[in-house]
Amino acid sequence: AVPGLVDRYGRQAHDLRVSLTDRCNLRCTYCMPAEGLDWMPGDELLSDDELLRLIRVAVEQLGVREIRFTGGEPLLRRGLEDLVAGAAALTSRPELSLTTNGIGLARRAERLVAAGLDRINVSLDTLDADTFLRLTRRPRLPDVLAGLRAAADAGLTPVKVNAVLVRDVNDDQAPELLAYCLEQGYQLRFIEQMPLDAGHVWSRQRMITAEEILDRLQARFTLTPHAAPRDGAPAELFDVSDSTGTTLGTVGVIASVTRPFCGDCDRTRLTADGRVRTCLFSRTETDLRELLRSGLDDATLADTWRTAMWGKLPGHDIDDPSFLQPDRPMSAIGG
Ligand code: GTP
Ligand code: 5AD
Ligand code: SF4
Repeated sequence: AVPGLVDRYGRQAHDLRVSLTDRCNLRCTYCMPAEGLDWMPGDELLSDDELLRLIRVAVEQLGVREIRFTGGEPLLRRGLEDLVAGAAALTSRPELSLTTNGIGLARRAERLVAAGLDRINVSLDTLDADTFLRLTRRPRLPDVLAGLRAAADAGLTPVKVNAVLVRDVNDDQAPELLAYCLEQGYQLRFIEQMPLDAGHVWSRQRMITAEEILDRLQARFTLTPHAAPRDGAPAELFDVSDSTGTTLGTVGVIASVTRPFCGDCDRTRLTADGRVRTCLFSRTETDLRELLRSGLDDATLADTWRTAMWGKLPGHDIDDPSFLQPDRPMSAIGG
């Protein structure tokens, strides 16, 4: 067995989330300001070769089984298909997934599948074009819907949809979003908003809780919790049926704030500029890029990664009065 990425609380990271860029072509109000952020300069980003080397070390030496590409918006990274193909070519091939806003996916879904992509999660917070514009500040709803359809047609099933509800903006639209996803065969998950926005405007009081989300859904659907253990997955799943008892599909809630799942966390993260983050909320990072660029060997990279992981904190402590938001926003960490 590989001596893996274990921490002092007995958790092991099998899931590596790789951010490919901090840029995005949407400007979701709960994520970043209208003018965007100070993007990372190109020479600070890991090259494709550097990324694939670190992914190989993680898979071959550290027991990582799943690679999830995130952003910013990972479809903005030219050569994404080559990265997927490179990761798929590793011995003991990892599972390969993508978390994306779906823009441009309609043209690329088939190529991504051909390259080896196994699964996809697409963000969609509303089906109403005006609300979409208000939330994302870009009129791209049709692109996202086309991307979702193309992903399902290309066989990336079950396509998962991530939705964040913002009070007084789209929080009344949960049942209609669920009805659409059930009809299309997508697995919808509602996410509690976390304090990871660039503007530091998140507030616990305004956040829509998992309990509120479930209440709103139960006004229209019957939800039955899954009995099977979650195995560290963030989403709690429910079977959905209508008033006649007919099963329509499943829905998930990701209650990161009110029902944290840190005790079962199986993640480690790599930022686009080559830093290991052991947690979304880490306040320290470990730089692998400089080690790599100074010519150190795989074994040293692996050791450094293991040491970083050992220091992972037990959980995020969002409800602690001394909680401090991490310096990087979500768009520069990866979802
Ligand atoms: P699968 O269920 O395996 O497809 O993965 P996932 O649910 O982790 O995928 P995705 O990247 O779509 O993440 C969905 C949401 O879960 C993210 O937007 C976060 O809000 C939340 N999330 C993902 N990873 C973490 C994590 O490590 N910690 C916490 N607290 N939330 C996370
Ligand atoms: N809290 C929770 N989810 C967030 N996302 C972006 N910012 C936040 C936040 N602060 C979501 C996006 C996308 C997923 C990757 O993360 O909407 O669906
Ligand atoms: Fe893991 Fe940190 Fe997320 Fe908790 S907050 S689940 S420890 S990454």
